[in-house]
Amino acid sequence: MEFKSKNLLSKIATNDGHGENSPYFDGWKAYDSNPFHPTQNPHGVIQMGLAENKLCFDLIKKWILENPHASICTAQGVEKLNDIAIFQDYHGLKEFREAVAKFMGRVGGNKFTFDPNRIVMSGGATGANETVMFCLADPGDAFLVPSPFYAGFGRDLGWRTGIEIVPVDCKSSNNFRITRAALEEAYEKAQKWNINVKGVIIANPSNPLGTILDRDTMTSIVGFVNEKNIHLVCDEIYAATVFGSPRFISIAEIIQDMDGCNPDLIHIVYSLSKDMGIPGFRVGIVYSFNDRVMHCARRMSSFGLVSSQTQYLLASMLSDDEFVGNFLRESSKRLGKRHSVFTKGLEQVGISCLASNAGLFFWMDMRPLLKEQSLQGELELWRVIINEVKLNVSPGSSFRCSEPGWFRVCFANMDDETVEVALDRIRAFVLSQENQEPDESKHWRKKPLPLSFTSSRLYDETIMSPHIISPQSSLVQATT
Ligand SMILES: Cc1ncc(COP(=O)(O)O)c(C=O)c1O
Repeated sequence: MEFKSKNLLSKIATNDGHGENSPYFDGWKAYDSNPFHPTQNPHGVIQMGLAENKLCFDLIKKWILENPHASICTAQGVEKLNDIAIFQDYHGLKEFREAVAKFMGRVGGNKFTFDPNRIVMSGGATGANETVMFCLADPGDAFLVPSPFYAGFGRDLGWRTGIEIVPVDCKSSNNFRITRAALEEAYEKAQKWNINVKGVIIANPSNPLGTILDRDTMTSIVGFVNEKNIHLVCDEIYAATVFGSPRFISIAEIIQDMDGCNPDLIHIVYSLSKDMGIPGFRVGIVYSFNDRVMHCARRMSSFGLVSSQTQYLLASMLSDDEFVGNFLRESSKRLGKRHSVFTKGLEQVGISCLASNAGLFFWMDMRPLLKEQSLQGELELWRVIINEVKLNVSPGSSFRCSEPGWFRVCFANMDDETVEVALDRIRAFVLSQENQEPDESKHWRKKPLPLSFTSSRLYDETIMSPHIISPQSSLVQATT
């Protein structure tokens, strides 16, 4: 018997809003089908497309072993099972909220005291970002997002909520700074298309740039949202990955020190996925200064609570001041060292990266290696890197970068030996490319090529009409 399968599922379930048809996710698939292993598969693909922080697992493991009472899965802790395994409402354990609020304050240099009663749980920052969108905007409304931006934002902000993303185009000429002029331009463009802009969302520190926002830029963004009376969502998921000066400044500190800011417009998304390196625990936080948003988000958090077992463990771990202090110091030291090994190793063959002091990645400038300064040129180079060099780095177009030739390289998800293999592969590749160049162009390393964009750029096409900017757009999917 033949069953009809047409229209059995919803439009949301079957549209392309998940964003998985992009090089970003294709790279993961290439890695999955041929993963590098130092002895069993030494010619496999090295995963450098995953922003994971695996450099401090030893510290967490040590703490768990030394604190068996903190876990209900040990002889010392199992008596707590009755309290922890039963139904928990969406407020979360008090000790957990207190510990998370304290941790967030510490990560921000103790310049602001977070209120535990405002801590709302979610399933990672993924769930937290979506929850905030559900609270702030209706289907068809838009958020301005400085580009390049996190490749998952399309899915997280827009897939199920129906919210549009309007990129705020940031340029390499000023190190991708978010300027007032770029914000105004994106806002005006949206208005021309009759799109209702509900806010701006920024990731600070930035994914994929690894840079942090300075006080002036943040003050200017807060001024912008206040003037327009729209929201500002700050995704601070990489707050504790800063490994060099200047220090990270939370938006909470900025608005505390600022006159005339309407706090009802300001919302923070946080998570322990990057700072603690525990994305599998799915700890996401919404911290809103707006009471109504906080209450609404808390009700919605029923859909993505952090398990009480995880809350119980982390309440104990994060309230151990000595452990937290040591963890934050050591994590930032190890990240800094790894970043320096990679970027210096690339410098040896003339590859430069955007100066950065945070994140689990850096932004590599491969423009001089493009055969053609276009999206096609970028994807062609990316295919060579993934298929021949066997490194899964992510092309800038997956982050909606408007300039071709930039790649995000993740550096904290592998061991030191793999770092050396990866560096050797990139260096050998760059040198082989140089040998292929005709004599007169051999000096590209010293002189970056001038940029010249062609109409084949992905986002030239997407700015033609409002609905095309949607991550669900079939044009975007087809082009990537
Ligand atoms: C800026 C940003 N926001 C949110 C997320 C999602 O994080 P989580 O694992 O906590 O859901 C990521 C993950 O890479 C990210 O980079």
